[in-house]
Amino acid sequence: MITITEATEHDLPIIRDIAYQTWPTTFEEILSPSQISYMLEMMYSLDALRTQVKDKNHVFLLAQESDSQDCLGYISYEFDYEGQSKTKIHKIYLLPASQGKGVGRLLIDNVAKLAIDHTNADLALNVNRYNKAIQFYERMGFTIVGNETIDIGDGFLMEDFIMEKPLNT
Ligand SMILES: CC(C)(COP(=O)(O)OP(=O)(O)OC[C@H]1O[C@@H](n2cnc3c(N)ncnc32)[C@H](O)[C@@H]1OP(=O)(O)O)[C@@H](O)C(=O)NCCC(=O)NCCS
Repeated sequence: MITITEATEHDLPIIRDIAYQTWPTTFEEILSPSQISYMLEMMYSLDALRTQVKDKNHVFLLAQESDSQDCLGYISYEFDYEGQSKTKIHKIYLLPASQGKGVGRLLIDNVAKLAIDHTNADLALNVNRYNKAIQFYERMGFTIVGNETIDIGDGFLMEDFIMEKPLNT
């Protein structure tokens, strides 16, 4: 069985380790190795993770094996994104061995429930335009509502689709 719990500061190293194990396989055909290293440092240094949680209102949920407590992956979200009635999913990553087993659906369903309780109208997220996670999000009820190219410095760009899912509260 899988348990979903809210992460504490104590869990930030686990989140960083899962990102470092998951990003290379996720992005090897999409981004250069130097861009992957740059983005991991930018988004997953312990300082960056602490800032997301303490100053930016990001909440991380962990998916854990109920018996062993092994952590399989995480999702992070932010209510009322940019003052709108939207819950933004900033991150969702599962270890390669834990993908394709329904854990991603469980994490999205959990955040959808929390967002409905918070009376937000939509879930929103950004996804790389070449990431096969797009099909997963479509299966979860998201549609592409726009695209966005973000200059993240050092000559690197994030070329994303914006996807949203109405929550029908
Ligand atoms: C994307 C990710 C979170 C999805 O979670 P998951 O646990 O692998 O997906 P699930 O097993 O819950 O799949 C749920 C449904 O989506 C479908 N699905 C999942 N990935 C799919 C894909 N690549 N193409 C088509 N359908 C897909 C499943 O078949 C399933 O459909 P069903 O309910 O009809 O059986 C996970 O695979 C992952 O961490 N990938 C690498 C990191 C990544 O790309 N993160 C997103 C960054 S924006």
